[in-house]
Amino acid sequence: MENEVLKTIVERRSIPRFREKEILPGVVEKILEAGRWAPSYANLQPWEFIVVRDPETKGKLSAVAEKVTLYRRGIQNADVVIVVAADPEVYPLHYREDAAVTVQNITLAAHSLGVASYWIGIPEGGPGSAESLTKEILGIPNEFSVVAILPLDYPDPTYKRQKERRPLREMVHYERYGNTRSS
Ligand SMILES: Cc1cc2nc3c(=O)[nH]c(=O)nc-3n(C[C@H](O)[C@H](O)[C@H](O)COP(=O)(O)O)c2cc1C
Repeated sequence: MENEVLKTIVERRSIPRFREKEILPGVVEKILEAGRWAPSYANLQPWEFIVVRDPETKGKLSAVAEKVTLYRRGIQNADVVIVVAADPEVYPLHYREDAAVTVQNITLAAHSLGVASYWIGIPEGGPGSAESLTKEILGIPNEFSVVAILPLDYPDPTYKRQKERRPLREMVHYERYGNTRSS
């Protein structure tokens, strides 16, 4: 594929297995910079990025992530973990979409720089939930929402990347829902 952006989008995969190498200096900053440039409702940028390198904290986050249905491990083995939180008070109607967009920027930027990641989705939850425990561990204000935990490291080359997508013809509707043919 000629276009680098399209290539990055199509080839990015969630990878929970890493080579366990230190990410080169400056790379995490470039990845965060991509997050900073995400679009958001009225450019309100309600997100905060918590960058975790401390092994003990990673261990605690890993234990919390066990509460999330799809958890596939990997946090402790990742060199860096970025936790994305958002402040609903900035604008309560769109903060989660805003946060999701920045997470996507981060994962795409990481992939484009040879760094693997995967999105551990943190659903909103009350006391004892993965969200609440993550806030406690990282000192995130209680009124914020934790949207994702993103382990980052160089990918284990033996990890089998997979995942197809539904074909476009099944998801595209022309003019009205149900018209799946363009003419
Ligand atoms: C909102 C959201 C939450 C996700 N939560 C998890 C998760 O908790 N654990 C996990 O292993 N993957 C999680 N993923 C990653 C998806 O499983 C993955 O993106 C999907 O299977 C497609 O695979 P691919 O990213 O390799 O193309 C999440 C993705 C999104 C967008």
